[in-house]
Amino acid sequence: MAENRNTSDLDLRSEVLASAARVHDHLLGGHHGFAFDREFAQAHSSAVPLVRRLLRLERDFLNDAVLMMLRRGIRQFLDLGAGLPSWGGVHDVASYLERGTVVVHVDHDLAAVEHGSLLLRDSGSGHYLHADLVDVDGVLVTCAGNGWLDLDRPVGVLAVGVLDLLGAEDDAERTMTRYAAELAADSMFAITHRAPGFAGPHRATAASLLTAGRGSLCHREIAGVRAMFGGTTLVKPGVVALPHVWPGLRPRLVDPAVPRDAVLAGVSVKRR
Ligand SMILES: C[S@@+](CC[C@H](N)C(=O)[O-])C[C@H]1O[C@@H](n2cnc3c(N)ncnc32)[C@H](O)[C@@H]1O
Repeated sequence: MAENRNTSDLDLRSEVLASAARVHDHLLGGHHGFAFDREFAQAHSSAVPLVRRLLRLERDFLNDAVLMMLRRGIRQFLDLGAGLPSWGGVHDVASYLERGTVVVHVDHDLAAVEHGSLLLRDSGSGHYLHADLVDVDGVLVTCAGNGWLDLDRPVGVLAVGVLDLLGAEDDAERTMTRYAAELAADSMFAITHRAPGFAGPHRATAASLLTAGRGSLCHREIAGVRAMFGGTTLVKPGVVALPHVWPGLRPRLVDPAVPRDAVLAGVSVKRR
């Protein structure tokens, strides 16, 4: 059975064909993956057993952040490194809670963009953009030009589970600072980032799992994650370990098996 295989048993087909977005969807309980995505995910998650629980924590945070932004009046979202629009994703939560909310999903994986566009084709309010999120001008000009986002109004930016996948040369901090500078006052930012406890000695396997065998994973401590908010104002208590419950949001059960230094997260606002 796939669960009993270790990563070295993976056949080349899975390594070549798996998509990071579909593997991620499968780990979150979605059904959009192919057999080779599932095989890839199962072999790797047996090497990093906590990975599914950690991804669920990130998904819970994503839901909390969207809810917080909706409550503050935000009705347009930019979902960077979006993956597939699976259950409980940005589009699902935002459009369920507030009709007419627009979500632009950005991903550099063409498979995710084509698949995601198909899944949202009847929504009228969800768009997929095939782009590298580091190309800030390209992303914003396309969003404005297509009439998807009104850049004179606040935007809710989600960068969940993606900034740690950027290579050092992509400079996640510089990229997010540019988004913060270009977007309107009252825009909000939600960021998660993997910390050293995420995979411990299994870091290389976790990286392979989250990038479908194609990339590396960067771990940062709290100060490094704070810098990603590009000078915007952090909502109290700032960058914290998940699970954390922001004031006014629903309580969460704490899973004692999850290390306190696995995933860091924060929400911020661009002040006027
Ligand atoms: C772990 S998934 C996270 C999906 C989603 N944010 C969530 O929380 O469910 C990471 C996604 O980021 C995408 N990605 C990685 N680097 C990217 C980049 N430089 N530009 C755009 N997308 C990127 C991958 O293709 C993948 O679909």
